[in-house]
Amino acid sequence: MPVFGDQDFDNHEQVVFAADPETGLRAIIAIHDTTRGPALGGCRMWAYADEQSAINDALRLSRGMTYKNALADLPLGGGKSVIIGDARTAKTAGLMAAMGRAVDALGGRYVVAEDVGTTVEDIEVIRRHTNHVAGVAHGGGDPSPATAFGVFSGIRAAVEHKLRRTSLDGVRVAVQGLGHVGQNLCRHLAGEGAKLYVSDIWPENVARVVEEHGATAVDPDAIYGVDADVFAPCALGAVINDDTLPRLSVSIVAGAANNQLAEDRHGVELARRGILYAPDYVINAGGVISISHEREPGGYDRERAFRHVARIHDTLKLIIERAEREGVPTNLAADRIAQERFRPH
Ligand SMILES: NC(=O)c1ccc[n+]([C@@H]2O[C@H](COP(=O)([O-])OP(=O)(O)OC[C@H]3O[C@@H](n4cnc5c(N)ncnc54)[C@H](O)[C@@H]3O)[C@@H](O)[C@H]2O)c1
Repeated sequence: MPVFGDQDFDNHEQVVFAADPETGLRAIIAIHDTTRGPALGGCRMWAYADEQSAINDALRLSRGMTYKNALADLPLGGGKSVIIGDARTAKTAGLMAAMGRAVDALGGRYVVAEDVGTTVEDIEVIRRHTNHVAGVAHGGGDPSPATAFGVFSGIRAAVEHKLRRTSLDGVRVAVQGLGHVGQNLCRHLAGEGAKLYVSDIWPENVARVVEEHGATAVDPDAIYGVDADVFAPCALGAVINDDTLPRLSVSIVAGAANNQLAEDRHGVELARRGILYAPDYVINAGGVISISHEREPGGYDRERAFRHVARIHDTLKLIIERAEREGVPTNLAADRIAQERFRPH
C-alpha cells in the first residue's frame, strides 16, 4: 500500500491507527494540517468494505476539513477520524470510551466531533475520557440550525451578486432534501418572501414544508429541472453530474450537501453555462463554526456564534470576486484562498 505518494495523503502531518482488542475498536485518526490550530473534524463510524477505503475516507475528509476551517476563518486545522464498524450493531459505550482514550493520547492535536454514524451522546461518552471534543450537549448542540443559517447567508450573497437583488422577496428556490438542514433553510427563505419548490423522498417531510411555508411540492427526480433562480441541494452528494447538469434551469447552485460536484470538471461546466456555484464546503460551514465557539473563553455564546456564521456571506463574495478576477470556477478560487490561509508561504 503506497502511502506518501497517494493523492489523498497530500502531506498529512500525522495519521494514527488506533486499536483496542477488548472493545473491538479499530480506528484511524488523520491530522492533515495544524498550521491554524488543532485539527478539528468529526468521527465517522462506517462499515467500510475494506481497510484501504477507510484510510482513504479519513484522509480525504481530514484534508477537506483543513480547507473548510480555513475558509470559515477558524483558528483550527483539519482532521477527521473513522471507526471501522457498523454504527447500528457494533457501537458500544466501551468502544466510544476507547476512542476517547485514543483521541486523548494525541494531547489536543486532534479535536473530535460528531459525524455520520456518531451522535452528540457518543461525543458525551468520549468526553469522559478526553477534553478535546466539540459539539457537546451543553454547547452548540445540534449543528443543523447553524448550518442552515450559513447556507441562507450564502444564498443571499449569491443572489446579490448574480441577480443584483438585495432582497430574497420573490426569489424562486428549489430545495432538494427537507431534513434537519433543509427544513431550517426553508424557514429562513420563506421568512424573507422566497418562493419555494421542495422535494424529499419522505412525503411527510414535503407535506410539512408545503403546509408551513406554502411551498410547491416537486417529485424527487423533477427537482433538477425546476425553472427557478436557485437550486439548493440539501440531501445527497454528487448531484451535479453529467446527467443532471443539462437539466438545470437556475442561475445559482447553493446548498448544504457535501461534495455536490461529482467531479471538479462539473464546477468548470457550471461556470461555462453561467451558473454561479457556491462551493459547498464554504456555505455549509455554519455547523462547524458554531461548535468551534464552544472553545471560546467564557464558553458558547449563540449570538456570537451566529454572527460568525453570517460572515459566510462575505466569504462567498470574496470567492466570487477572486473567481472572476482570475477567470477560474468558484470551487477553484475557494481552494486557492483556503491554501493561502493554511500554507501562507
Ligand atoms: N447537519 C449539518 O449540520 C450539516 C453540516 C454540513 C453538511 N451537511 C450536509 O447537508 C445535507 C443535509 O444534512 P441533514 O443534516 O439535513 O441530513 P438529514 O438526513 O436530516 O436530511 C436529508 C434529507 O434528504 C432527504 N433525501 C434523501 N435522498 C433524497 C433525494 N434523492 N431527493 C430528495 N430528498 C432526499 C432525506 O429523506 C432527508 O429528509 C447532507 O448532505 C449533509 O452531509 C449537513
